[in-house]
Amino acid sequence: MELLQFYGASEGFLRGVIRDTFLDHVWVNAYLEEKTHGFLHGDRVRKGSKKLLGKLTDDERQKLTLEGEEFDGASPFTSACAVVEICSLLHDGGRFDERGEQTEESNKMHHIIGADRAVEFCKSLGLDAIIPYVDNTILCHDFQSPTDTPSLDSPSYMIGSVVQSSDQMGWMHPGSVERTVQYSLVVNRPIFDPTVLIEDRIGWQPFVGDALDALTVLLKQLYGNTGPDRFGVEAARTKVERYKPQIRAGIVALSDREGFRQELDEIMQVYDNLSV
Ligand SMILES: [Fe+2]
Ligand SMILES: [Fe+2]
Repeated sequence: MELLQFYGASEGFLRGVIRDTFLDHVWVNAYLEEKTHGFLHGDRVRKGSKKLLGKLTDDERQKLTLEGEEFDGASPFTSACAVVEICSLLHDGGRFDERGEQTEESNKMHHIIGADRAVEFCKSLGLDAIIPYVDNTILCHDFQSPTDTPSLDSPSYMIGSVVQSSDQMGWMHPGSVERTVQYSLVVNRPIFDPTVLIEDRIGWQPFVGDALDALTVLLKQLYGNTGPDRFGVEAARTKVERYKPQIRAGIVALSDREGFRQELDEIMQVYDNLSV
């Protein structure tokens, strides 16, 4: 298959290629249907990546073009964009175990399983030249900072930075407050648990253990790293910085609604003092 067929491809085409490639695997059905980490999420990240690709700085564009030259001398930039789209789509494809279930183990290992599956995808389509980029991008897509995600490395390529930035922006969106609250209700996690110690909130690392309450996650969103480590694309950094006041207002509104405003003010004061 031609790499450029993946540039701006339709959802139907992509679903079809994924289904055909992994026909013998039960997990692919779950991946295609599931809404939080399945195809729909991958496609949302793909759309976000496409937006970022249109806003790259000259320097970022040049880096991406140089990477594209490694596998397509004729249209390097467009081909690199196609690789970004493939990686975006498949980045969380490892969240489902062979039976199609999301388990603690599969979620913890999803970057490794996802990279293996994406490599298999490329091999079966004859796209071997892009494998090093796809492999590294998916292995590193959840990197946030050396302290927040100590078991992960930062992406080695601009291709990976675009995918990582687009995926991470989902955490830093004004709508992410409501999404976190909804997810907490689904997994039976309290919105605010007054017994959670402040040091446990501050020290919580995404992907290592479940947060004890939704507020821990929300404060991680608000006070989390927004630097180049996590958002390797400048346009993404600018955008998430602009979202911060809205996320803050969303958390305050939630505390008013749920009756923990006073506690929130005290907790935020500790966080504010830490970040100056
Ligand atoms: Fe992920
Ligand atoms: Fe993701």
